[in-house]
Amino acid sequence: MTDLDVFITGLPKAELHLHIEGSLEPELMFALARRNGVALAYPDVEAVRAAYAFSNLQDFLDIYYAGAAVLLTARDFHDLAMAYFDRAAADGVVHAEIMFDPQTHTARGVPFCAVIEGLVSAMAEAKTRHGMTSALIMCFLRHLSEADAFAVLEEAGPWLPKITAVGLDSSELGHPPQKFARVFAAAREHGLKLVAHAGEEGPPEYVIAALDVLHVDRIDHGNRALEDAGLVARLVASGMTLTVCPLSNLKLCVVGNLIDHPIDAMLREGLKATVNSDDPAYFGGYVADNYRAVAKARSLTRDDLAQLARNSFTGSFLPSAAIAANCARLDAYLGS
Ligand code: ADE
Ligand code: ZN
Repeated sequence: MTDLDVFITGLPKAELHLHIEGSLEPELMFALARRNGVALAYPDVEAVRAAYAFSNLQDFLDIYYAGAAVLLTARDFHDLAMAYFDRAAADGVVHAEIMFDPQTHTARGVPFCAVIEGLVSAMAEAKTRHGMTSALIMCFLRHLSEADAFAVLEEAGPWLPKITAVGLDSSELGHPPQKFARVFAAAREHGLKLVAHAGEEGPPEYVIAALDVLHVDRIDHGNRALEDAGLVARLVASGMTLTVCPLSNLKLCVVGNLIDHPIDAMLREGLKATVNSDDPAYFGGYVADNYRAVAKARSLTRDDLAQLARNSFTGSFLPSAAIAANCARLDAYLGS
């Protein structure tokens, strides 16, 4: 471990872009498959890991949805989330906003309440065990219909007090934000915050539509916004947070090499970029690994890393007093 590695691990940070299903490590996948009597397509953990070679987002999604088949009960979702919270705490995460995909589970007959009860109980345990705060982002699968998304929002009704935001994920190309304009408007009426994956594979126009049509509070990824100077200026002026995921970008071929990753270009432009892990079990690293990978590839300074951590707090959906307290904790760390 270099001094910089130690600095990065200890840096108090929030994680704002993490799919809880994407934190399912192959070891836990096999343990849950055994516990639930679910057959897997792979003989062992090594074979699963060997299958994690993707050329694009869809390649990954096909394997990711298949892996989620082992998750059946509230206990499974609890165990999945606790494994993530324990790992994230070791990476200096003090607040996590975690996405979940109810449709991936309800389509297999898993009750919505099993998913959310398991996650909510783990969130309470993460607070007790690690002092970590967390929030839930319920995502709509964009390859499914608007009617399906409305059905999820309806089913989530009794649980809305436990849900902070809705999001939009899955296959981006061919499924522009416009498809979900009405369901996002309804979610906003419920007082929910709004986020959407945009500009991961999709063009800058999808980022513009996420802003103008969905009225999002945050953009997930946003890499391709850099192709449009006017859009960059707009994102800078509005202080819009981008939840950037470097190792995901590498694994899904959004960038060919981390040496070409735009994270520092984003900071120099004045964009409010953050660093996150997306689907850490599939992309080879948790949040501190992502910080380390770009720090090395792009020669980031300690000031850059501190700015990324600060952006993660100011871009979070925490109340302003908690944001201030976390920024003070970061300042104390930097001054120590
Ligand atoms: N679901 C899980 N990870 C995703 C990603 N990176 N993009 C879109 N949908 C996802
Ligand atoms: Zn994502």
